[in-house]
Amino acid sequence: MKKKIKKIEELEKVVEKVFNTLSKNLKNNSATVISLAGDLGSGKTTFAQNAGKVLKIKEKINSPTFVISKKYNINNKKFPWKNLIHIDAYRLNSKNDIKNIGLEEEMKNPENLILIEWAEMLWKKKPENFYEIKFEYLSEKEREIEF
Ligand SMILES: Nc1ncnc2c1ncn2[C@@H]1O[C@H](COP(=O)(O)OP(=O)(O)OP(=O)(O)O)[C@@H](O)[C@H]1O
Ligand SMILES: [Mg+2]
Repeated sequence: MKKKIKKIEELEKVVEKVFNTLSKNLKNNSATVISLAGDLGSGKTTFAQNAGKVLKIKEKINSPTFVISKKYNINNKKFPWKNLIHIDAYRLNSKNDIKNIGLEEEMKNPENLILIEWAEMLWKKKPENFYEIKFEYLSEKEREIEF
């Protein structure tokens, strides 16, 4: 599914739609992993911030560029997940890194929804329950999302 977003205010509804679709189609007992893929400034972190609104997360979600990984409590009972993990993998590049940041363990927990910016370099073989959302910059306010 491809969706054009004409302004940032439309994003929350799109995030909700994506999560609704995803949560109905979970395949097995592991975390749900979503790669947020797209150029610098295409809207990956903004997507995660809107995920925070949809999932009723209390804290503000910032870019995890410096901390690499951040975990939040999900307070929306409508969805099957209890934790959101937001990762910026820009500076990671190996299987070792996946272990070191605790991602290998977190990926076993079906209560985790894991959003990863720059996940492209992390896996040779894609994990289970892995999805990709592609972000494309159209103009200052417009983006296209492919899911
Ligand atoms: N329709 C839109 N959807 C998403 N972001 C938008 C939109 N319109 C404008 N923006 C702006 O574009 C910027 C996107 O930045 P964001 O940090 O989300 O990108 P990013 O893909 O995470 O970049 P990076 O690769 O540096 O982490 C924000 O400043 C946001 O306000
Ligand atoms: Mg970002």
